[in-house]
Amino acid sequence: MSAAPLHSGFLTHKRMMFAWLALLLVLAVAAAWYWQEMLPPSAVDLGFSYGLGTLALVIMLWLTWFGVRKRSYAKGAGRLKAWLSAHVYLGLSLVFLVPLHGGFTIAPDIHGIAYVLVLVTVFTGLFGVAFYGFYPRRVTANREGLTFDAMLKRIAEIDIELRGLSTQLSEAANNIVRREAESGRIGGGVGILFARPINKARRARQALLRLNLDSDAGNRAAALLESKAAVVDRLQRDIQMRSRLRAWLLLHVPLSLATLAAVIAHAAGMLMFGLGSV
Ligand code: HEM
Ligand code: HEM
Repeated sequence: MSAAPLHSGFLTHKRMMFAWLALLLVLAVAAAWYWQEMLPPSAVDLGFSYGLGTLALVIMLWLTWFGVRKRSYAKGAGRLKAWLSAHVYLGLSLVFLVPLHGGFTIAPDIHGIAYVLVLVTVFTGLFGVAFYGFYPRRVTANREGLTFDAMLKRIAEIDIELRGLSTQLSEAANNIVRREAESGRIGGGVGILFARPINKARRARQALLRLNLDSDAGNRAAALLESKAAVVDRLQRDIQMRSRLRAWLLLHVPLSLATLAAVIAHAAGMLMFGLGSV
């Protein structure tokens, strides 16, 4: 599975150094917030609103830059894993840093929308982490050493053998076998993200068995359809798991860009018109 080198062990990379750093950052800001009476009021106002806001924006820009960094292949897979590890933990730190920055006020305005977008983006990121932790090993186990193409080839071989039996089967049996072979479709479509389609080879085998055929050709056709159903199951699971591994990014990336746009609008408003005006 091509996802393995980057996505295996990124959460614990460098003994979770980035998790500890992100936690330290959140704890330091929370401590400053808790003991703010001990600091000069003007420094607190500026520090939490503009200082922490700017830090949150810099973190956002850096997180978004990951898309570019991911594609610069020349810079080594090891360092990319460090980037991904830091990406996940710094991304999570925003969940706590932003409320500390905004004085725990989340209203239905551009500031609140920016925070909700941060939360939704982080939420989709958690799906990514869960999928990368769960699926790559399962994809490998499901394939049992076969490649995707080898599975398709096995289906084509079974279809050829089934077609070869056509002259020895009754008309009813032939119709079932032919219709199944013509249906062709194994997976595909957005629906497979949620549920696997009906395995038509298995359904055809059941229909064939209901005809009570007692011939060598009939038994062979049923056995072939059983083998085909097993390969189709495997292919459908493969397509489903690999689609899920990609699909969450189709939410994560546009959401991260929408978040960035909302944050920039909020920050520009605050910088131009001052506190509380946008
Ligand atoms: C991830 C980035 C950011 C998010 C999600 C965010 C969100 C918020 C939220 C939810 C509030 C509370 C609004 C309210 O009181 O109704 C707020 C306040 C504020 N934000 Fe941001 N913000 C971000 C970055 C920035 C940046 C880059 C700046 C400016 C450089 C900034 C400046 C301010 C100011 C001045 C306030 C008012 C603080 C106060 O009333 O004490 N923010 N922000
Ligand atoms: C608001 C904060 C975040 C922003 C703006 C953001 C943005 C991005 C961007 C632009 C990418 C590059 C995707 C690509 O081009 O292929 C990415 C990848 C990724 N993000 Fe985030 N992200 C954020 C938070 C998070 C969080 C909190 C997590 C995990 C809990 C996370 C998990 C991931 C993962 C696992 C990838 C790697 C995808 C891959 O290698 O295929 N992100 N993110």
